[in-house]
Amino acid sequence: MNPQIFANNDLWKLFMLLVNMVLFLVIITFMYLMLEDHINTFLNKPSYTEEQLEEMLLKRERQKRIERNDNWDLVERGIHLKTGLKADKNLSIVIAACTSCHSAKLITQNRATRAGWKNMIVWMQATQGLQDLGEQEPLILDYLATYYAPTKMGRRKNLDMAAIEWYILNVEE
Ligand code: HEC
Repeated sequence: MNPQIFANNDLWKLFMLLVNMVLFLVIITFMYLMLEDHINTFLNKPSYTEEQLEEMLLKRERQKRIERNDNWDLVERGIHLKTGLKADKNLSIVIAACTSCHSAKLITQNRATRAGWKNMIVWMQATQGLQDLGEQEPLILDYLATYYAPTKMGRRKNLDMAAIEWYILNVEE
């Protein structure tokens, strides 16, 4: 074989090897740039033990409880969390007038008609030192009669005896 051709051939191979390597590096770099975010998030993903996770959960719950306790205006599912009263545009009036002497539970545990609530207010004014509620009284009564009205559950209505068609039960046969 001609040594000249052999040498050229070898050089060519070396050159192609270099070209391939550069191409390979370019492709790898390109792919890395495309996947950089994913790779980083995967590598940085923290892994926790079960106890650590539990502790984090407890911490978050504690934080939530503190937030609720500190937040006087927080309303969840229509209930004012701090007092347990139904949320309403007049709620602040009711809170101011009705929770200074006792818990709002006395309200949420009671049911009465507007007249019934009026009676309770009159009773508190006569015997417990509740002051005159002035022009707020109708607003408060509206609120109470709307959200803490007597529930309609209870037993069915009495039968209308006159309307019943009676028959004799035949037990002979
Ligand atoms: C000046 C203090 C005071 C204020 C203000 C006050 N109450 Fe009372 N209330 C009392 C006292 C004292 C009782 C009796 C508590 C007990 O029996 O433990 C009472 C009892 C109640 C009861 C229970 C009544 C029963 O028959 O068991 C309800 C309901 C009630 N209050 C609602 C209200 C509402 C609604 C308001 C706002 C309009 C209000 N209270 C504001 C002092 C007050």
